[in-house]
Parts: sequence; structure tokens; C-alpha cells
Amino acid sequence: MTFLGYTRLMARIAVTDGMAKDAVTLLEESGHEVVLGTIGAEDLLNGALSEFDAIIVRSATKIPAAVIEATSDRVRVIGRAGVGVDNIDIEAAAQSGVPVVNAPRASTQSVVELTIGHLLSSLRHIPRSDRGLRNGQWEKKAMKGTELSGKNLGLIGFGRIAQGVGTVAQALGMDIHTYDPYLPPKVAKAQNTILHKNVDTLFANCTHISIHCNLNDETHHLVNAKRLAMMPGRSNDGIDCGNHIVNCARGGIIDESALLEALETGVLASAALDVFEIEPVPADAPLLQHENFHGTPHIGAATMEAQARVGRDIALAVMAVLDGKKCETTVNAHLLD
Ligand code: MLT
Repeated sequence: MTFLGYTRLMARIAVTDGMAKDAVTLLEESGHEVVLGTIGAEDLLNGALSEFDAIIVRSATKIPAAVIEATSDRVRVIGRAGVGVDNIDIEAAAQSGVPVVNAPRASTQSVVELTIGHLLSSLRHIPRSDRGLRNGQWEKKAMKGTELSGKNLGLIGFGRIAQGVGTVAQALGMDIHTYDPYLPPKVAKAQNTILHKNVDTLFANCTHISIHCNLNDETHHLVNAKRLAMMPGRSNDGIDCGNHIVNCARGGIIDESALLEALETGVLASAALDVFEIEPVPADAPLLQHENFHGTPHIGAATMEAQARVGRDIALAVMAVLDGKKCETTVNAHLLD
């Protein structure tokens, strides 16, 4: 097939967790065959990917080392249609010479907006009020909330999404604190943010905390009982606003048993999660039963706009690698020869 003056060999691309229609069209109009559909864990372990030149996944398909080992040399690139690559063993992929590419910018705005939505929902008791209305309760007094304005928001991790959250929260009158051991202090300064060298001091200074880091050995259960107990409960403007946690990043960064206990003992006034230690979270999980908890089913990037951008970005990244080009969103570039 000739495309933009090049003779191009068609690639067979598996898309296992769905993708925006326009992105599928882009791949097909570029001369590739797209095979849409879930591939079960057992089939993956039995080498089902060997029939493909490229695979594009979201978070549902897991690609551990055993799947990569079971796959023939035909696979030339793995695309993660999103940001987090914790479902792919990027080291094992590099050992097999396979670049893993992602789409790190496409969903930023959508996750920023969901994070702010969760914060506002917690502070103004929107989920509880709605449940009350459906039960015929008009609980005006019990639903007295607090403003975001005048409170300290602690951001754990200060990448693109956290910076976006910080900008919106500042516009709402919040003061921004951050903990990010990899952040050059000048970036924090430029964003008018107080950078903490120690995560404990962030907890000790913030009544509101939102998580924006990756899940890894360093960050697993970074939010635990000891740190939750450090939160001040009273804001700089003298309001007993209580303590509030939001996580739209990854499950496992918060110890969910500690979170529930903190809600039960009043250490936390609210918790809102888009991501869970086990996904899908079981409906009978005790956390879900707590009145001051509300959650969403990992929908940070689930907007029409984000999915259109994610699809396009990952399609272009995968095609760049298939064309033998370097791709700037290769997350295991440092491990490849
Ligand atoms: C991401 O890492 O891009 C988000 O968590 C969204 C997703 O996994 O679909």
C-alpha cells in the first residue's frame, strides 16, 4: 500500500480494550488491519498476541512478563491508550526489544475536571444529598458543607494532572501544597505552590489531599493510618472543615482499610475514589457502605474528548514505531538497547 508517498507494509493490530472509532479509522485508512476484541488472560498466556504486529490496550488487559515471554517476535510495539502503564511489564517488554508507548497528555483535562468534581461533591455532600432526596428526605441542615476557598490542598505528585488541579483550585481560592520528590523546585515556584520535602509535612499542613502519582513500590500505601492521623482537620481560615481525600490516580496508593477506619473514627470527614485496590470494586466492599464515601468506576479519562485524543495519540505513536521511527512517548526507551 502507498501512503504519503511511502510503500507501507500492512500491520495487524489487536485493540483489546476498545478505542475511539476515529482512531480505528485512522489506523485502517493508513493501511493496517485492526482486530477489535477482548483477549482472555489464558489466551494471552498461550501466545494469542503472536498473530499481531502491535497491540493496543487500556487498563483491563494485563501484560505481565509471562504474556510477553509467550508471544512471538512478531509483536513490535505495545500501545497503552492512556497514561498509567502499571498493567504492562515494561522491563520484560524491553528485554524482548518491544517498545511500550502511551498517550500521556490526552486525558489530563478530563482527570483534572473529575478530581475537582469529587472535591466539590465531598465538600457539599452532593452524593449524600441525592441519596436523601431519593428516600424522601429534605435534610437541609445536615447537609451544611464547607467552601474550598481558604483551605490548603495537598497534591501528591505534581505532574500535568496535578498542575491542572492546582490551577483550578487556586482559582477557587485554595492554597496549593505539593509533595513530589522528582519535581525541580523552580516548577513548584512557577506554579505558586509550596513544595514539601517530606510527605508527612504535607499531611500535617493540609485538610484536603488529592493523589496524582504513579503506583509503584515507593507509593504503595503511601496514604496510611499514620499519615491520615496527621491531617489538621481545621483550616487556615479557622473553619473546622474536617479532612478530605480524593484519589483519581491509582488504587493501592491509599490503604483502603485505613481509609475506612479513618472515616469511621472521624479522622476523615470524606473520601472520594475513582480508583480502587481491586477493580471492579465489589459492591459489598465495606468502604462503599460508608455515608461519607463516594466513588466512581475509574472514569477519569472517560470523556468523549479525552477518548478521541487518547485514540488518536496512541494510533499515531504505534504507527510511528511500526514505521521504524522514534516515538517520544516510549516509556521503556531507557531500557531498550
Ligand atoms: C490512565 O492511566 O490513562 C487512566 O487511568 C485511564 C484508564 O486507565 O483508562
